[in-house]
Amino acid sequence: EEQKAEESSDVDTSSDEDEDEQEDEVNNTTDMSECKETSSVCQETKREVKVEQDGEKEKKISDQEKVQKKPSEPAIFIPVDRSPEVQEARLKLPVLAEEQVIMEAVRENPSIVICGETGSGKTTQVPQFLYEAGYASDGRMIGITEPRRVAAVSMSHRVAKEMNLPTQVVSYQIRYEGNVTSDTKIKFMTDGVLLKEIQKDFLLQKYSAIIIDEAHERSVYTDILIGLLSRIVPLRNKKGMPMKLLIMSATLRVEDFTENQRLFRTPPPVIKVDARQFPVTIHFNKRTPLEDYTGEAFHKTCKIHRMLPPGGILVFLTGQAEVHSLCRRLRKAFPFRKGNTATGEQSLKMRKRRLLEAGIGDEEDGDSDLDLGDDPADAEEKADGSIPLYVLPLYSLLAPEQQAKVFRPPPPGTRLCIIATNVAETSLTIPGIKYVVDCGRVKKRFYDKVTGVSSFKVTWTSQASANQRAGRAGRTEPGHCYRLYSSAVFGDFTLFSEAEITRRPVEDLVLQMKDLNIEKVVNFPFPTPPSTEALVAAEQLLVSLGALEEPPCTGRLKDMQRAKLSCPITPLGRAMASFPVAPRYAKMLALGKQQDCLPYVIAVVAAMTVREIFEDLDRPARSEDESSKLNQRRARLTQMRRLWAGQGASLLLGDLMIMLGAVGACEFAGCTPRFCENSGLRYKAMVEIRKLRGQLTNAVNAVCPEVGVFVDPKMTPPTEHQVVCLRQIVLAGLGDHLARRAQGEDLVDPKWKNAYKTPLMDEPVFIHPNSALFKTLPEFVVYQEIMETSKMYMRGVSAVEAEWVPQFLPQYCHFGSPLESPSPWFCSSTGTIRCHRSSTFFRVGWQLPAVEME
Ligand code: CDP
Ligand code: MG
Repeated sequence: EEQKAEESSDVDTSSDEDEDEQEDEVNNTTDMSECKETSSVCQETKREVKVEQDGEKEKKISDQEKVQKKPSEPAIFIPVDRSPEVQEARLKLPVLAEEQVIMEAVRENPSIVICGETGSGKTTQVPQFLYEAGYASDGRMIGITEPRRVAAVSMSHRVAKEMNLPTQVVSYQIRYEGNVTSDTKIKFMTDGVLLKEIQKDFLLQKYSAIIIDEAHERSVYTDILIGLLSRIVPLRNKKGMPMKLLIMSATLRVEDFTENQRLFRTPPPVIKVDARQFPVTIHFNKRTPLEDYTGEAFHKTCKIHRMLPPGGILVFLTGQAEVHSLCRRLRKAFPFRKGNTATGEQSLKMRKRRLLEAGIGDEEDGDSDLDLGDDPADAEEKADGSIPLYVLPLYSLLAPEQQAKVFRPPPPGTRLCIIATNVAETSLTIPGIKYVVDCGRVKKRFYDKVTGVSSFKVTWTSQASANQRAGRAGRTEPGHCYRLYSSAVFGDFTLFSEAEITRRPVEDLVLQMKDLNIEKVVNFPFPTPPSTEALVAAEQLLVSLGALEEPPCTGRLKDMQRAKLSCPITPLGRAMASFPVAPRYAKMLALGKQQDCLPYVIAVVAAMTVREIFEDLDRPARSEDESSKLNQRRARLTQMRRLWAGQGASLLLGDLMIMLGAVGACEFAGCTPRFCENSGLRYKAMVEIRKLRGQLTNAVNAVCPEVGVFVDPKMTPPTEHQVVCLRQIVLAGLGDHLARRAQGEDLVDPKWKNAYKTPLMDEPVFIHPNSALFKTLPEFVVYQEIMETSKMYMRGVSAVEAEWVPQFLPQYCHFGSPLESPSPWFCSSTGTIRCHRSSTFFRVGWQLPAVEME
């Protein structure tokens, strides 16, 4: 560890050096000939930042004077025509009490931070404050970013409704859709959308104010936006087009933004909104179920419903499958059909009866009475006279119409019960929740920093997030939170969740930043910087993809290390950055024009980018009777996938051929929900693929108009020739994901049977039984990713030929002579290599067939 720290301090410049380098964090341009639009802005602005730094002291004084002398900007007031009900409801929101303070802070400061509990009215009201104060009256917009698509859409509708304005004025933009018009004044969008806009216009001239919402979630794009905006805001002010930045957080932990000298030289003021939070009584379990927390959640919910006074129940689980399974069990236990709802009087009677039975008084004063205990045996799981439970699922992949249901009041005579994932923790406030059941866990994707192997793991959540969950119960009246774990376990939780940027590979971010001419990404003012290790790995991958120039290999070690972290972007890198997909896939798109392969490459890349397009064939049966049906379905779907994979030449494209076949077949059938259901495809994913294909086609046409691709929804299958070409393109993009079948000595150990070896791992990896290539077992394959489940499985596998490796991945090979060199940083490009007798895949020393090269 110590060594690592030392290494990084070598690369990361010392603090006084930082001062000098700060100016070029955002604006570093080297070769103007290759730069596009944004760079000229950056060049210009680079000088200006410097000027500003010189005049820093003077400016501070004049700022103070301004505060004392003139009461800042004139107070404009743009009236809003709200209905009396809306007006009444919003007056109850805690953030309304702070409107004066917030708006004064906005006027006096370029950037401010607002902290307030979820539900205090930040997201819905702060944009309205800005609107009323005239921030959207000079033709510029107020922009609000959300880390989640569902929040962007639902909040824009909500605000439009509150302000009595059409959706052409209060609009949203998410990845593929939006209703933004030239009349838009308030624009909700995902953070990724704003990042793309910065690429087109670094100064964000369309906006007068940007609100970064849910900053406490520390999503990667939010973090980067804050870093970028900390530079953009002063530039805008300098140019006489002032812009305001508002960072909004649901927790008080904002030091990463405010006390970060690299972000803001003068810490932005923090305005705390006192939430009108009612007390929430926490009930810990005595014991902590280690496995079946879904079952435990079921028993607890039944008990609450049977025994406790009215009030919505919100259950936190970790994933979609769990959510559905609990929904089904609860619906079965307390069926809800139209017509069987109880009248208010009936339900009161029933509840009174049960409360008496349970020995709990009608008035809930004694908290211990509401402590339901954690013995599942005393929970009755039958309806027996209980009012119906109106059970709704809530998770990010859920269709928007379904999601919207949670905001509506439940049918009269029923009790609302929402089974949710983390989505309900902070970004959405569900009205009427009195009881929270918290499983205490969260599902997260983990990446191995070295091997890139990813796995989903359910882990304990943090104390901060458990407290957020509990807080959901106290929005409208005092509430109760039932934690399905003991207080001792809670004590062992980490205090806060880590910023996402420290937990995932960053090559996509690094490429985007290089495209913004931020050459030394290591100096970027990240609220929490990724590790130097992750940054080096990212630059190394981008160099091998040809997106960045190779760093010079001469000079002092320290200089070389620094060079590794500041490779300039290449023209290919610029093209790749304009494709909205990860760099490996962007490389494939950039190569796709050969042999008319582009439409296929676009379809494959779209399918690889969209998550979970296939129904999970390994999902366990939910009941006895489902089991035989499920087996039949599995057999049929496997058969279908085999058909898509084809025979002979096309089979070698492997799982990517299945994807291509699925996309083609689905489009041929008109992409209907019914076809998807019958073919084991996730409808929402297929619709997303269709949109992404359109978007990628436009992007490719914009970069190389001479190619002129069209989206032909009904693709004809590729020819044998094209399949070979596709496999080579895939190899060029996924070159660092090459695996070779285990051989020689390894096979002595049975663990290597049918296994593959990869350059970065000692452990065997496997082709999944559901893969197209499970039976073929080609000698060389490339894979999309490795997922660790019961074994290390490669996903998205394609076969490649050994002799292609030195041809398509010369950067990973070293050749017999004359350029023998030990590392990729020294490796020369193809131009200088001729007629080699042999080559070695240097990362593992695989001998490859002889090739002759130019
Ligand atoms: O952003 P923050 O969590 O501080 O609060 P908000 O999302 O602005 O919500 C303020 C209030 O509006 C809450 O009490 C919500 O229940 C309510 N709201 C609603 O009823 N329906 C929506 N679609 C959004 C918010
Ligand atoms: Mg909010």
